[in-house]
Amino acid sequence: MKSYNIAVIGGDGTGPEVIAESMKVLKAAGQKFKLKLNFTDFDFGGERYKRTGEVLPDSAVPDLQKFPAILLGAIGHPDVKPGILEKGILLRLRFEMEQYINLRPVRLYDERFCPIKDKKPEDIDFVVVRENNEGLYTGAGGFVYKGTPHEVAVQESINTRRGIERCLTYAFELAARRHKDKPWKGLKPEDIAAGKTAQLTLSGKTNVLTYAFDLWERAFHEVGAKYPTVKRDYAHVDATTMWFVKNPEWFDVIVTDNMFGDIITDLGAMIQGGMGIAAGGNINPAGTSMFEPIGGSAPKYTGKNVINPLAAICAGSMLLEHLGENKAAAAIEATVIKVVREKLKSLAAGKMGYGTTQVGDLVAEAL
Ligand code: IPM
Ligand code: MN
Repeated sequence: MKSYNIAVIGGDGTGPEVIAESMKVLKAAGQKFKLKLNFTDFDFGGERYKRTGEVLPDSAVPDLQKFPAILLGAIGHPDVKPGILEKGILLRLRFEMEQYINLRPVRLYDERFCPIKDKKPEDIDFVVVRENNEGLYTGAGGFVYKGTPHEVAVQESINTRRGIERCLTYAFELAARRHKDKPWKGLKPEDIAAGKTAQLTLSGKTNVLTYAFDLWERAFHEVGAKYPTVKRDYAHVDATTMWFVKNPEWFDVIVTDNMFGDIITDLGAMIQGGMGIAAGGNINPAGTSMFEPIGGSAPKYTGKNVINPLAAICAGSMLLEHLGENKAAAAIEATVIKVVREKLKSLAAGKMGYGTTQVGDLVAEAL
């Protein structure tokens, strides 16, 4: 029997509630697929910070690095000034564990929950590969003359050739793998005739950010030359948001920088049915990766048994896929789809027709 050690950070607000349901489903999958999953809890988050005054102990990263994967609920507490926990826990973990990919699948499971008219599950099925360690997120910059009338604030976007290249390599590998068996349906006959099976779109801003995205664009074509089956495509980020709404079926895999990726993946979450269903992974392909529902801590719903746990359950599915347990991962996703289609009235908190724990039960039992 295969055995995996998984670190669990329930975190703040509704985080622990949705993580409990995710673990419930992971355990059910473990039984079905003969996997032994050992969970170890870590209490990082706003409550611990309020109690101890410490955001994250220095032991956290080395302790977590003993695990191949982390399941994370949410970070963010209404009593703590915005930025402290996000930067001190979430971003610090992403950076120090070199989780340089933020992977965000955007899949519509049921057309009833799509806010865009006439879009079907087959129209909304793409993946965003967001660079997760650089760009505007590094904290580079600073103030000059702070608090005076001629105060200056500089926030710099850091783009390294190495950082961009490893992100692009991940994206091209993913695209090349994604439709190995059957070419992606969005390709034109001439693309298929030319041997393409997938498409990778670089989403950038080459018309204004002429240094950062010049580097991204050159690296994109240089790395891409090694992937002859992947069609290279480009879209400005503003146009990308337009097409997410107008023609989401135009996208297969998208790669972009940290800030743009943050913005477009919230939009992606909305077109797939909202924060109740959207999951993501912070990936270090050679180290410890961390999977999370992307909806945040939703403090107003804490303890009410109304939050949708499916995003956390989908994060669990991504975690298993990352560990190489593809069958178990796919079974969880398929069961989520079934429960969404056959049972749920809505994907929104308090409107599902079931409570948080019941939705977890529905998935675990159907599995
Ligand atoms: C996300 C979140 C984080 C980010 C915040 C909480 C720091 O919005 O995971 O997308 O900006 O990356
Ligand atoms: Mn975000």
